Amino acid sequence: MAFKDLREFLDYLKERRDLFVVDREVSTEYEIAAFSRKTSDLDGPALLFTNVKGYEMPVLGGLYGARRRIAQALGLNEDNLLQEYIKKEKQLLEPKLVADGPVKEVVWKGDDIDLFKLPIITNFEKDAGPYITGGIQIARDPVSGARNCSMHRMLLLDRNHLTVYAPMGRQLGIIISRYEDNDQPTEIATAIGVEPATAIASQCRPPLGTDEMYIAGGMRGEPVELVKCETIDVEVPATAEIVIEGRTIPHRRADDGPFGEYPGTYSWVRQAPVLEVTAITMRQKPIYQNVLTGMPMTENHWMMDLAATAIAYQEAYKICPDIKDIRMTPGGTSRHHLVVSIKKRHEYEPRNIITALLAANIGAKLVIVVDEDIDIYNPLEVEWAVNTRVQAERDVIILPTMYSPTLDPSAPAPRSSSKMGIDATAPLGKREEYARVYTPGQDEPYITEMLMNYMKGN
Ligand SMILES: Cc1cc2nc3c(=O)[nH]c(=O)nc-3n(C[C@H](O)[C@H](O)[C@H](O)COP(=O)(O)O)c2cc1C
Repeated sequence: MAFKDLREFLDYLKERRDLFVVDREVSTEYEIAAFSRKTSDLDGPALLFTNVKGYEMPVLGGLYGARRRIAQALGLNEDNLLQEYIKKEKQLLEPKLVADGPVKEVVWKGDDIDLFKLPIITNFEKDAGPYITGGIQIARDPVSGARNCSMHRMLLLDRNHLTVYAPMGRQLGIIISRYEDNDQPTEIATAIGVEPATAIASQCRPPLGTDEMYIAGGMRGEPVELVKCETIDVEVPATAEIVIEGRTIPHRRADDGPFGEYPGTYSWVRQAPVLEVTAITMRQKPIYQNVLTGMPMTENHWMMDLAATAIAYQEAYKICPDIKDIRMTPGGTSRHHLVVSIKKRHEYEPRNIITALLAANIGAKLVIVVDEDIDIYNPLEVEWAVNTRVQAERDVIILPTMYSPTLDPSAPAPRSSSKMGIDATAPLGKREEYARVYTPGQDEPYITEMLMNYMKGN
């Protein structure tokens, strides 16, 4: 089932008691972020704040702070989510250009442009200021001509300027530098509050030249409807709540940061391109959306998890079709640590998996490969495999500093990391020596039942 727009998804959640309308007065400074943090820690509902101090607009927070809502956004069940997601990601559907759409109901141009009228949120104690965190940036690559969609934080600088944190290596960063090679600005539209499959599709990582709007259409099972922007040659989702149109100022950079980022640490001050806003369009009674980053797991992690894990799965599958399961662990920020379980058929297969995943453009810095008998969702079992099946000098691979698209504070230089792989599989043909001990009957239901009854006081 495709949601027509964000509002239809919110209605769907409300029916399931998974959207909490908060009518108590709240501040854009920290308070909305604090609520969003708590609801993702509790695996709680999405939050719609209808009484935001100093603003007319309601603010949506915590929408993607639970895994179930990522699945619902795509019309999928949580069971077997990764495999179903991989199928969806491959179904491309061309977007449809339409003449008009709700996002044009209100248009601010010229002196009407004022970013201070948007309830932009300050999320963390040491943040440089209010950041737009829930915007999807849409721009055209000058080389391939293809559209690119991705999410990048934007620091509010003044009434018509924002930073765009699109570092080199990110496709938007490459696009900006390609325009700057010819001293040209980059036209960027930032869509806030889009229909949920489009938001999740923005996190796919196809090679530059593939338009994520096709992927979004495939995920929805219906084309994404796009309308032309007012002041730039870019198309945006017709049902977005708010669109900020703008052009980068070639070669202009501004301080961006500190900002509380997905590793759960601050991203300190860096230089980021500056965007000059040329128009803001919106629906009547628009909903502003904030997306929380910070300590795992919260919105940013859940939104990115499937796309990155899908890349890792497909890379590992090329080497070992008997891959049983794969996971980016929450403690590894759902980005830096991967655990893979396989049915090993060659002694050195794990080494190929390790090097392939460490080199894949997803930012993994630790890959652990275990045998199929290990439950990768149980950290005790993974550590037990590392403990009983690993000898460091034989089974640990360390790669020197490589390019790595992360914000890891331990990195020796931005976008780089040294990497490690651990082959925690038992040697082939020696399974018996490594088998776990077992007492016949230990899993008998009557034993569990008797113990549980006693513990409950029955
Ligand atoms: C809430 C949220 C905020 C994000 N902020 C940034 C950001 O500020 N800079 C960045 O490079 N990536 C950011 N990302 C990750 C990118 O949007 C994501 O990796 C995307 O797939 C990159 O697209 P690309 O493959 O076109 O470069 C963010 C992701 C989410 C979910």
